[in-house]
Amino acid sequence: MTEEYGFGNPEIIEEEVDILLIGGGMAACGAGFEIMQWIEEARKQGVDLKVKLVDKAAMDRSGAVAQGLSAINTYMGENDPSDYVRYVRQDLMGIVREDLVFDVGRHVDDSVHNFEKWGLPIWKQPGDEGKPLADGGKPVRSGRWQIMINGESYKWIVAEAAKKSLGLENIQERVFIIRLVTDKNDPTRIAGAAGFSVRDHKLYIYRFKCCLMAAGGAVNVFRPRSVGEGTGRAWYPVWNAGSTYAMAAEVGAELTLMENRFVPARFKDGYGPVGAWFLLFKAQAMNAAGEDYQTRNADLLQKNGYGKYVKGHAMGTCLRNHLMMHEMKEGRGPIFMDTPTAMKNLAANMTPREIKHLEAEAWEDFLDMTIGQCGVWAGENIEPDKEMSELMPTEPYLLGSHAGCAGIWCSGPDDVPGTPEHYHWGYNRMTTVKGLFSAGDGVGASGHKFSSGSFTEGRIAAKALVKFAMDNRDWKPEMERSVDDLVQEIYRPVRNFLEHKDYTTAIDINPHYITPKMFQFRLQKVMDEYVAGVSTMYQTNAAMLKVAEKKLDMLREDSLKMRAKDLHELLRAWENYHRLFAAFAHMKHIQFREETRYPGYYYRTDHLDLDDDNWRCFVNSTYNRDTGEWSLKKVDWKQLVKE
Ligand code: FAD
Ligand code: ADX
Repeated sequence: MTEEYGFGNPEIIEEEVDILLIGGGMAACGAGFEIMQWIEEARKQGVDLKVKLVDKAAMDRSGAVAQGLSAINTYMGENDPSDYVRYVRQDLMGIVREDLVFDVGRHVDDSVHNFEKWGLPIWKQPGDEGKPLADGGKPVRSGRWQIMINGESYKWIVAEAAKKSLGLENIQERVFIIRLVTDKNDPTRIAGAAGFSVRDHKLYIYRFKCCLMAAGGAVNVFRPRSVGEGTGRAWYPVWNAGSTYAMAAEVGAELTLMENRFVPARFKDGYGPVGAWFLLFKAQAMNAAGEDYQTRNADLLQKNGYGKYVKGHAMGTCLRNHLMMHEMKEGRGPIFMDTPTAMKNLAANMTPREIKHLEAEAWEDFLDMTIGQCGVWAGENIEPDKEMSELMPTEPYLLGSHAGCAGIWCSGPDDVPGTPEHYHWGYNRMTTVKGLFSAGDGVGASGHKFSSGSFTEGRIAAKALVKFAMDNRDWKPEMERSVDDLVQEIYRPVRNFLEHKDYTTAIDINPHYITPKMFQFRLQKVMDEYVAGVSTMYQTNAAMLKVAEKKLDMLREDSLKMRAKDLHELLRAWENYHRLFAAFAHMKHIQFREETRYPGYYYRTDHLDLDDDNWRCFVNSTYNRDTGEWSLKKVDWKQLVKE
């Protein structure tokens, strides 16, 4: 019977390495590229370290950069890393770990120079074509920090470099890690991880001295705008299901700023990016009456204390949303991006050939990274030079590397002047669990790393991972849980199915189990309706959060009842388990922070003000796996770079 559903006895593969890299995205590729030179150094000292990278998907097209990108959003060039800190601090409403941001800023350009060396085409200023950035070639900037690329193969190029460095024998693709395991003798230390192949009937158990948890952020925690016929379409890549936050929290790692989220304002329905349109094409967004709502609503920024983080016309990403959402709530939507005027203005001094090229670039901006938006343009007969396109704020996502800063509380560098003691505890990018490191979307309180910064942070972590492994060269990992116990847990959804499937005649309707799909709908409904999703226009309050907590607690009970009728559903079941954890942390943090720190991302309607006196601090949380309780606390923020 089990064979009928593809579940015989799984093959169990156990492996011991020194360092495990979990994830194959930008951060893990950065780590994979960097780590071998430090392993080589270790070899010279007579220590042979073994490393393995495990990705849930195939590295060539995994993670947020899967479809490609049309810009690298973090490149210093002529800018100073201290200015980068100022920009990130302002965009994230005053609270970031400036040591971590500075650390990325001072190293990021070297990564971008490598991308170019490996074949990534980077746009250059007229006259500098063919001159690499590393030799002083001037990039075409869309904004102060962003440079334009022909990036449809960005991820291929970066993955190739990581693969070449690591060696294919040290890479395991299509293995979904679902659980970290602490050490038998020290519960504050990491010793192993367990997962399963999403293609073959195999379970994987890894033991290691230390590991990098870089499995991206969380999507589909909230009910998306795309439902029914559009289900599956989201801005954030659908395979990053909160694994990073959930697995780290479950072994006791402290999380930070999990109340933060990212709500991107995007081209409606296709989720096409707006950056190139605003910054490069200089397009204007307007309300239905053709008014510039940013100017019209400028005085809103002076209310509730939000204006503190506005400098001239520069305002954070959430505040841009705030002005747009106000317009929609007042009934002056839809919001439009005026693409025709922008293209007309740009074309004013162009030859017909240059105009054709401009039109091609307008399409390519989407073709490079969000192909679905071209589908919307083509399907709705929208010619961007003739007709405006709608913009819309999307459902919320949890992430730490784009214009958001949710994530894990990590140790920073020890050489940034003024850094307080509580910002570093030995190894750069190590979490509060010994041997567990993170990078990219995983590291909290330091957003705006983007693709290049995440790759760079992976490199930073790689160096520290090797140092940790060297310092612990004689230590042997012993997992606190047995292999059999882990196998039983991974297969619980399968057992739920096999034990109860004959109770009813309709396979999806059964009082003894819940399908992963239904579980996901329930989670999304709770988050959407009570935790500031789109249906309440991103608003919540203490009473709504109390209801959410009760419902999420019940969902947590039911998570043990998820069923898996095939390998695909087993993947879905565990993704949703991770999502639930990330969602819970998000809800608890929003509950704890009694202010509206990120207007335009979410509103605490019972505390609408931004309250620097009481809340210019980090909120950190810890999950206790024995009691199932979360505890939250305020942690001091320190300014390291002056205004
Ligand atoms: P990802 O690159 O997303 O990698 C996560 C990896 O983890 C993937 O390989 C995934 O398969 C793997 N994984 C997930 N769960 C598991 C698990 N349980 N076990 C094993 N592996 C797992 N940046 C720019 O510079 N310019 C842009 O124009 C730009 N545009 C963007 C557009 C979109 C739509 C998005 C979502 C992001 C964009 N970014 C851009 C940001 C950039 O893509 C991210 O900052 C970067 O990819 C984050 O790196 P990461 O390694 O943390 O996550
Ligand atoms: S992308 O990741 O899909 O490319 P997006 O297009 O929104 O995101 O942004 C690209 C970059 O431009 C980011 O660094 C973002 O902060 C910045 N950006 C987008 N819109 C604006 C704007 N109106 N003003 C200033 N910066 C912006």
